[in-house]
Amino acid sequence: MAIRKYVGALAVGSLVGVAALGLRSQAAAPGKSQATSVTKAIAQLIPTTKTQSTVKGTVTFTKTEHGMHVSGEITGLTPGEHGFHVHDYGQWSEDGMATGGHFNPTGAPHASHDSSKRHVGDMGNIKADDSGKAVVELDDDQMTFEGPTSILGRGLVVHAKADDLKSQPSGDAGGRLAVAIIGVAKP
Ligand code: CU
Ligand code: ZN
Repeated sequence: MAIRKYVGALAVGSLVGVAALGLRSQAAAPGKSQATSVTKAIAQLIPTTKTQSTVKGTVTFTKTEHGMHVSGEITGLTPGEHGFHVHDYGQWSEDGMATGGHFNPTGAPHASHDSSKRHVGDMGNIKADDSGKAVVELDDDQMTFEGPTSILGRGLVVHAKADDLKSQPSGDAGGRLAVAIIGVAKP
């Protein structure tokens, strides 16, 4: 009986070994790596209905050597600055409140995007021109696609007012005009 148990354990052990080898070779195989390592994410902003917003747009997040490049175009804004953040939850709702607060996995205070101690989700403001269009082009060194600071599946929010970059906990940026869910993009 004892011997049979021992043989059984050996069999299970070698099975696990084979499975681990299989995983390793899969990860190393070219073409399969896209499934395990995300290099690009996309967020499609949908206007919130309670605010009667017409704000929409597409924002992409692309992994770079030093972090992330954020790029996009947002329309339907009033001219001027609007708070722009990653929030905790990737859920649209008619007032945008389902996204929760600013994404803050490091327990930092709310601050400007160029501050070293800030919410990971703090991207400051976007600035709309007279036609209501804002172009986003910024580099980030805190957001990632893996680990505790991963922004995948979280919410992207455009606000009615400017983020003052200091009021706690969220820069007094007012209502939420559009919400997107940050998802994995085709590289
Ligand atoms: Cu926000
Ligand atoms: Zn913040």
